[in-house]
Amino acid sequence: PRKFAVLGNPIKHSLSPRLHALFAQQTGLQIEYSKQCVEPAHFRDHVKQFFAAGGCGLNITLPFKEQAYALADPRISDRARAAGSANTLWQENGEIHACNTDGVGLVNDMLRQHITLHDSRILLIGAGGATRGVMPALLQAGCAHLHIVNRSEDKAHALAAQAAALPGPQAQVTASAFSALQGTWDIIVNATSSSLSGQTLPLPDNLFRTNSVAYDMLYTADGDTPFLQQARNGGARQTSDGLGMLVYQGAESFRIWNQIEPDAAPVLTALRMELT
Ligand code: ATR
Repeated sequence: PRKFAVLGNPIKHSLSPRLHALFAQQTGLQIEYSKQCVEPAHFRDHVKQFFAAGGCGLNITLPFKEQAYALADPRISDRARAAGSANTLWQENGEIHACNTDGVGLVNDMLRQHITLHDSRILLIGAGGATRGVMPALLQAGCAHLHIVNRSEDKAHALAAQAAALPGPQAQVTASAFSALQGTWDIIVNATSSSLSGQTLPLPDNLFRTNSVAYDMLYTADGDTPFLQQARNGGARQTSDGLGMLVYQGAESFRIWNQIEPDAAPVLTALRMELT
């Protein structure tokens, strides 16, 4: 079988092995996909050894996506370059290549749910690695105005400045602190880790009242999160957790590695059923 793994720290709760087993089953491929916890000091050697031993592909998760990008430089895709990080590695002609499939994963999951990105006004909450990873794909999908709001305002402004330098369709990109947040948004995306600590975000009361769609990049077994509850209570018309984003980013990694495009939708349905 072709060998794959996901590297991270921690990695215990990763759904990627199950996800790829489902893609493999669907497409009739024989694969082995393991999860491996790596010490930060050993990341580079671990990756090199994996490919030296005949491994076909790696998914990279927290906290190694920037290191994965640096390791593959200059063999990085436009998507990885725009995101400044990589979640998918493979080897060609003895060289390690990298892509970031998180952004296309988010966009494809939104398209599945008939969320219109073209000409949309998008509010992205958070200015960490998760935001940086998906920002280029949202702009590429033709959003008209992207606003980044973050607790540390300087990080939001830094990302907005980076967005302006990206190739592709031009959108209005702005940034602010929560206290200065105003306006109405078609799509509101939570890319912070606030839900993990059970904290609610300091969002204006009327934020979701204009038929907004709320999307949390985090996922839970039942598909609900504190952010999505906040959104529904505020009047959001449609909410989604990030399980679909996980499945669609995985589908794109699978396609890159195996040159076979899996059908992500039934895999998402199966994974959701297994979780609940
Ligand atoms: P990731 O790679 O998952 O994005 P990160 O780079 O540590 O992780 O970024 C975490 C994001 O969640 C940041 O935008 C962070 O805000 P700060 O930049 O101000 O730290 C945000 N975040 C985490 N906990 C939060 C909370 N309780 N309230 C608001 N924002 C929070």
